[in-house]
Amino acid sequence: MKRREFFNWVGLGLLASSLPVALAAFTSEDTTFAATTSKTTKKWQKVGTVTELDKTGQLLVENSPIGALLVVGTSKKPKNLIAVKPNCTHQGCTVEWNTKNSEFACPCHGAKFASNGKVQNGPANKPLKTYQVKIEAGAVFVLSV
Ligand code: FES
Repeated sequence: MKRREFFNWVGLGLLASSLPVALAAFTSEDTTFAATTSKTTKKWQKVGTVTELDKTGQLLVENSPIGALLVVGTSKKPKNLIAVKPNCTHQGCTVEWNTKNSEFACPCHGAKFASNGKVQNGPANKPLKTYQVKIEAGAVFVLSV
């Protein structure tokens, strides 16, 4: 084997053996970037229609793209719309909106939450997660963070 052929074979061998490492490094960087991007992206998600919301002044969505949601209010006063994750922070029961007292009440052990999700009565000690709400083109949208 001539010297030139020897170096060609060695160079090709090095390239072939380092290719999987280079691909793995590129792939892992790409995944990290995508994960970082999705964590910081806010998206408005359509969770129902204005007709559904205005029927009772409440819209309970069990399986929205961002999980369970309870939207309270009507399209007549869109600035007063409220959206929360309806799972009580005590043991997870679904809270109900009490229009008369303007609060969320848990039927299981009596916890109560203000319209902004803050705890008013235990045994729950953490607030309900809240979301931004808007109405657009006859649909109800919620902003996931
Ligand atoms: S689950 Fe709501 S108060 Fe216990």
